[in-house]
Amino acid sequence: MTAPTESAIDIWDDDILVDPYPAYAALREQAGVVHLPKNDLYVVTRYDIIRDVLGDPSTFSSTTLGFNPMVNEALQGTSLASDPPVHTQLRATLSENLTPRALRGLKVTIDEKADKLVAELVASGSFEAIDSLARAFPLEIVAELIGFSGHVKDNMLRWGQAAMQVIGPLNQRTQESFPIAGELYGWCSSVTGDDLTPGSIGRGIFDAESRGDIPEGSAGHIIHQYLGAGVDTTIASIGNIVALFGRHPEQLQLVRENPELVPAAFAEVLRYWTPLHIWGRTATRDVEIDGVTVPAGAQLGVLLGAGNRDARHYENPDVFDVTRNPVDHLSFGYGPHGCAGQGLAKLEGHAIVGALARQVQSITITDEARVASNMTRSIDKLHVAKVVAA
Ligand code: HEM
Repeated sequence: MTAPTESAIDIWDDDILVDPYPAYAALREQAGVVHLPKNDLYVVTRYDIIRDVLGDPSTFSSTTLGFNPMVNEALQGTSLASDPPVHTQLRATLSENLTPRALRGLKVTIDEKADKLVAELVASGSFEAIDSLARAFPLEIVAELIGFSGHVKDNMLRWGQAAMQVIGPLNQRTQESFPIAGELYGWCSSVTGDDLTPGSIGRGIFDAESRGDIPEGSAGHIIHQYLGAGVDTTIASIGNIVALFGRHPEQLQLVRENPELVPAAFAEVLRYWTPLHIWGRTATRDVEIDGVTVPAGAQLGVLLGAGNRDARHYENPDVFDVTRNPVDHLSFGYGPHGCAGQGLAKLEGHAIVGALARQVQSITITDEARVASNMTRSIDKLHVAKVVAA
């Protein structure tokens, strides 16, 4: 049995969280799986190996996918933190409202909302893109979809961010976020259908629970997952669209000239800057990965962004190219847990890319600031000093 090679990297170091790509490259070139003693973790770094791990839930369990015991306990019973066959049933219920068929009616509304919001921002001449677009847009869409209003809507951003942050190791960020994530857990365990707007998807989930179509008590869990998994990640990807079009005006130009590139451009944004830094699994047995043995019980950290830049899979992976169309990128995961909300995320991403391509000739960015965050890599402030209308 050969043990994996080691690296002294701390994968939650502030500098790495802000710009993980040099560390991803170093770890990926070192090996397909690397032991990080500082984090008591085995990170998986190459595209094919990441797919193998995510595609094999009996060897790589999701039941302790978080990086601290408290969050693993809190996530028990969710689709995210379960393995087949339990996962299969939970997932069916959860994804029923997120299938392409269920979402079909939403495209027009989402496109219209994106066009309106982008038009207002373009008319203003300059704006801060994270609060006014990347956060404003998904918060409005998800709130309306699930049927939130009032104080819940006001808390969605804090709750969504905290729900992701606490999946990290027990560092200061996690500890500060637990009370906020606790507010979300508390709300989800007491919410009833009457708290959600009639006709919304959220209300429908509670109706299904009262009919006995889904297990008692599962409706609150589902709402929690939509909020926890669907807010922070989408916000990151929309901020990244604006920043990457600002940095690469010729790529915006290409989408303007070829509107059929909208889906490919969003897929490339997701590949190039991966919203989730790391995701967990646990080895259920001694297992050979890339010729070395990872011991039973080991915690794995799947580096989705490292796989997305693997030259063994993508040609010139460090180049942002909207014509690439990387439909097989890893940002939505892979296998049985592959993102259940990707249909909605794509509707939102395509709407924003399309609205920008139709309405904007160029974007000048003067300030792009990131803050270190355990799980989601996103821009915190993005100042668009000048936007030229099309
Ligand atoms: C760009 C935006 C998004 C990204 C990058 C993203 C990423 C991911 C990833 C990597 C996973 C796999 C987790 C695993 O393997 O354990 C996942 C699962 C999931 N996502 Fe997303 N997601 C996004 C948007 C959304 C949205 C909008 C929703 C719902 C409203 C959503 C709901 C879920 C759910 C419920 C799961 C768990 C599925 C399961 O356990 O079977 N996501 N997402």
